[in-house]
Amino acid sequence: MRIDVLTLFPEMFDAPLSYSILKRAQDQNVVEVVLSNIRDFATDSYRKVDDKPYGGGPGMVMMPGPVFDCFEHVQPQAPDPGRVIILTPQGQPLTQQKAVALSKEPRLVLIAGRYEGFDERIRTGLGAEQISIGDYVLSGGELAAMVLIDAVVRLLPGALGDDDSSADDSFSNDLLEYPQYTRPDVFRDMRVPDILLSGDHGKIAQWRNEQRIERTKKWRPDVYEKHINGNARNDEK
Ligand code: ADE
Repeated sequence: MRIDVLTLFPEMFDAPLSYSILKRAQDQNVVEVVLSNIRDFATDSYRKVDDKPYGGGPGMVMMPGPVFDCFEHVQPQAPDPGRVIILTPQGQPLTQQKAVALSKEPRLVLIAGRYEGFDERIRTGLGAEQISIGDYVLSGGELAAMVLIDAVVRLLPGALGDDDSSADDSFSNDLLEYPQYTRPDVFRDMRVPDILLSGDHGKIAQWRNEQRIERTKKWRPDVYEKHINGNARNDEK
């Protein structure tokens, strides 16, 4: 997969891309992340990329020119035109299901904005979809783009080590994860559940499944509702 990021702050991405799974995935050519600075495509001597909103109002708006020029420079660099995504609190929520869908694309082109927002012609003219990472407002789309990249890349074949797997992740099958324990079996008088020490893999799997259901019911009733509805739909098939 190739992920292009159009941003005013490419350096913000350095740290998240330099560690752990994201680093390994790039080193092993599972993903290529290409950062482009929108400001490099400003046309005036002040390198201006934003301006006051028509009609008045607070703040500044990202101008279409530099974003279009940056996009048109980057897009021909790979054969697949890519799925174009603007990070904005107005977007569709990023869910695990959405991350799975995005992980099947050969190319993503992410546009991260600053200021009060984007000139609307950026969205319409580039045919971009909008994604939000939650119902709160960040000071820019960069952190949201990094969250999206992390959620997507770890799902790519070869991104996780052999011992890891995303199959039991929270939200797979619309359930949260089961509780995990490691050594020691007693820590400050807190014991690991006996069943996990029993060696009975069938019983352990059943216990874990029950735990997933219990925790989801208790902590995320909204997710549990989806689990029930999803199972009902599967039963009808
Ligand atoms: N930009 C600012 N806030 C955001 C959010 N919640 N999600 C995605 N992009 C954003």
